[in-house]
Amino acid sequence: MACCRPPYWLTLLTILLSLTCSSVLSDEEDTLRLLKFKSSLSNTEELNWNVTSPPCDGIKENWKGVICDNDGIVFGLVLENMGLSGVIDMDTLSEITTIRTLSFVNNSFMGSMPNLEKMLPLRGIFLSYNKFSGEIGGDAFSGMSSLRKVELRNNAFTGKIPVSLTQLPFLMDLELQNNEFDGQIPDFEQKLLTVNFSNNRLDGFIPKGLSNQDPNSFAGNNLCGEPLSPCKISNSNGSGSSDTSSSRIFSMCTCFITILRLWYL
Ligand SMILES: *[C@@H]1O[C@H](CO)[C@@H](O)[C@H](O)[C@H]1NC(C)=O
Repeated sequence: MACCRPPYWLTLLTILLSLTCSSVLSDEEDTLRLLKFKSSLSNTEELNWNVTSPPCDGIKENWKGVICDNDGIVFGLVLENMGLSGVIDMDTLSEITTIRTLSFVNNSFMGSMPNLEKMLPLRGIFLSYNKFSGEIGGDAFSGMSSLRKVELRNNAFTGKIPVSLTQLPFLMDLELQNNEFDGQIPDFEQKLLTVNFSNNRLDGFIPKGLSNQDPNSFAGNNLCGEPLSPCKISNSNGSGSSDTSSSRIFSMCTCFITILRLWYL
């Protein structure tokens, strides 16, 4: 049997070759994926993306807006201020498993927020200054346990602030200002979090976990409580309820005294 076993060097060589091949192949596949992603965008004149050079040449970026890491792997897309519109093909992007950051800031994207459910490893998502609109599902950010920065400012988002944002353990920066979010703010407990919720349609209390934020972060809503002014409505409700209970006791007493008086007359 020993006669037929291939020599060690051959085994080693095969392993090395297949490793190199697979990394080259995956690079090539990422190139094709990025081109497929680009094909559903409009207004892409600025994107000098084409097959003649790979997106990353080591840390050097050959393709505008493609961020490469030290190993020449696609780490993110920063496609800002380009007048882009069309469809953000998250399904194709999610096949590039090394992507950790996505920015489409200041373009002309419309419609609902891109679906992030296949982008669980993202650390940052930046969609500010577009024309995104509509509600964001409460679970839109579920399971994105590496997410640190979420910037959605200056769009036309409506509905409730997604509760899944409150469950992201490392969330540091949440910018939702200048949208049309409504309803109450859910409770955030992340220690290192900075939020900006200004200029929406939020109402009710500011939850305890956000009481040490900059007051300006809540301006332009109908909010009360720390760090803004105390909640008058809820205070008058509180004293109102004790008022009603004391007035109830008072009227019971009056009633009792009246009955006693009647008895003695
Ligand atoms: C947005 O991008 C345009 C170019 O498309 C640029 O002129 C403008 O200054 C940018 N606005 C912001 C807020 O960065």
